[in-house]
Amino acid sequence: MERYAIGANWKMQKPLISESVLEAERMVSALSEYNDVDIFIAPSHNTLSAVGKILEESNVRLASQNMHDAKRGAFTGEVSIEALLEVGCEYVLLGHSERRRIFGEDDNYINRKVLTAIDNDLQIVLCIGETAAERNQGKMKEVIEKQLELSLCDVINSDQIIIAYEPVWAINSPALNPGIEIRPATVPEAIQSHEIVRSWLISRFGQRGNNIPIQYGGSMKESNAKELLSQDNIDGGLVGGASLKIDTFLPIVQAVQVS
Ligand code: PGA
Repeated sequence: MERYAIGANWKMQKPLISESVLEAERMVSALSEYNDVDIFIAPSHNTLSAVGKILEESNVRLASQNMHDAKRGAFTGEVSIEALLEVGCEYVLLGHSERRRIFGEDDNYINRKVLTAIDNDLQIVLCIGETAAERNQGKMKEVIEKQLELSLCDVINSDQIIIAYEPVWAINSPALNPGIEIRPATVPEAIQSHEIVRSWLISRFGQRGNNIPIQYGGSMKESNAKELLSQDNIDGGLVGGASLKIDTFLPIVQAVQVS
């Protein structure tokens, strides 16, 4: 991989414009030298426009946490890709486990969004990952390969794809993991899954599959970022909790430079 991609997924943790703008300003100023890494922030939808203005002219890109597959229509409560493009989004997260498990999105629906996003020149960050129960049943490979197969059905152009491998049990999300002790993947666990993803991408896209960044996500933080990011096939991170403040996000971006 030539370039690393580090994303900040703010989820619904900063719902106010004022707090999002303040943190975005801090990030833009602290991250201005890190031009070798593709960095993006996915704030709450209602703050995209204001945060987008702060990111303009900076090396930090704007991302959306979700979108609908149709451009317009009678879809109450949904967000159109046209709205994302209007405010300057360049990336969109699709298939995040919180969307899949809490809001019931399935692979076919995610695939329709993937195709809409790629057709309209957005970079997709396709999130995949198995639950603790699936892993314990020895189904990790089967689950993530099926998610890849269905979500990327009919996709031809691999240039606009980033994969985020996020084992559900590692995501710092109590609603996703009731009664489970949340922990980051160990380095060998992450390596094993990322190798499976890489092999699948090569079998699907040929040698171009080697150029698709595979981010790790799930409790990534300063203490584990450097070791994870120094592994083959771990080409970045999708960061939730540790991305909410520049003090905890910066060391992860710096870990790319030194790994
Ligand atoms: P986390 O979230 O870093 O808080 O575990 C990652 C994600 O859900 O993308």
